[in-house]
Amino acid sequence: MLKIVTVIGTRPQFVKASVVSLALSQENWVTELLVETGQHYDRNMSTLFFEQLRLPSPRYYLNVGSHSHGVQTALMLKGVETVLVEEKPDLVLVYGDTNSTLAGSLAAAKLNIPVAHVEAGLRSFNRRMPEEINRVLTDHMSELLFAPTINAVENLKKEGVMEKNIFFTGDVMYDAALYFGSQAETMSTILQETRVRPKEFALITVHRAENTDDREKLGSICRGLARIAKTIPVIWPLHPRTRKALIQWNFFEFIEKHVKIIPPVGYLDMVMLEKHALAIVTDSGGVQKEAFFHRVPCVTLRTETEWPELVELGWNRIVPPDDPSLIETEVQRALGISGMDAQPYGDGQAAHKVVSVIRDYYGIL
Ligand code: UD1
Ligand code: UDP
Repeated sequence: MLKIVTVIGTRPQFVKASVVSLALSQENWVTELLVETGQHYDRNMSTLFFEQLRLPSPRYYLNVGSHSHGVQTALMLKGVETVLVEEKPDLVLVYGDTNSTLAGSLAAAKLNIPVAHVEAGLRSFNRRMPEEINRVLTDHMSELLFAPTINAVENLKKEGVMEKNIFFTGDVMYDAALYFGSQAETMSTILQETRVRPKEFALITVHRAENTDDREKLGSICRGLARIAKTIPVIWPLHPRTRKALIQWNFFEFIEKHVKIIPPVGYLDMVMLEKHALAIVTDSGGVQKEAFFHRVPCVTLRTETEWPELVELGWNRIVPPDDPSLIETEVQRALGISGMDAQPYGDGQAAHKVVSVIRDYYGIL
């Protein structure tokens, strides 16, 4: 029996792992056990996702919590290494580009355990982003690189990764959007709770360090959102990092007067808000794609994106968050647009493709 240890720790990783864990659980030649690092630990950033997405309970919880990058990554590295020495897995599975991803892949690589990376090959080409460092390092430590897009495949080839190690699977987040999208319609009551009507509100998420840790940028975002809120109700499920920054920079009282701030929501509520929003304004990687999956126009408050195909298709507009009036104008322009139709993220079967590549790699018949 093949043994896989999966290392996850943040909200988007719970979403991505849910569909792959489900696909693995349907196979009789493999067992998977989860290590949860504890990078995200508030109930509505972690446990709620395990419950809603029916993820198996983690076998190990490292309880790492929030620290500087170095300390957080080091604590995870130490904890994951202990688990790997104990469990001796055949493969370590990691997702995305967070510190949990880097710690999982580095711990495995140092023990000569093969690493499989889901969401390999994405690049912003901005090395100031902590995520870019995590992705590049993880890709170059991985044996199996599961690329969600053709652009990601090309990025890996340009960096000299051997083609035999790169597998275009499509995006597991698309699988999740399809699988949980209809459940959200019957199970979520978030539209009633927030008292908004379908297609009559804008949905906001902001949590990137480059936006929250820069007073000017966060101030500009708040003023931009306040302008938008004059004509469309704005709902903002607030990441804990952003809540802290809004309070620290004294923007919280101002923004609360204009925008409906709510705590971070579970995945089903988020999907429901996304599906029924008139427009989405975000700096999240996952939310940019989910806007497209649900065919909602999106404005991305950044200077670049790892998902350039959305911009090319016309569903996403990149708007550097330095000018409140530009944010407002671009959101107004985005309203009602419909981009071109295409399927750059595969056919909704990415998780099964990941599983079948692993099976082939180990020669299991
Ligand atoms: C992390 C990832 C980022 C990903 C995001 C998903 C890294 C470097 N960053 O960013 O790529 O897009 O997760 O949401 O790995 N906090 C809480 N409760 C929690 C979690 C965090 O209060 O449950 C607060 C703490 O003050 C913490 C801050 O949020 O210091 C940032 O958390 P952290 O996990 O370091 O980074 P994220 O911004 O969440
Ligand atoms: N998400 C959620 N509730 C929220 C905000 C986001 O369930 O309040 C989901 C979102 O639908 C997507 C994932 O979390 O599936 C994206 O995570 P995040 O934006 O934190 O990280 P990123 O994708 O930028 O790494």
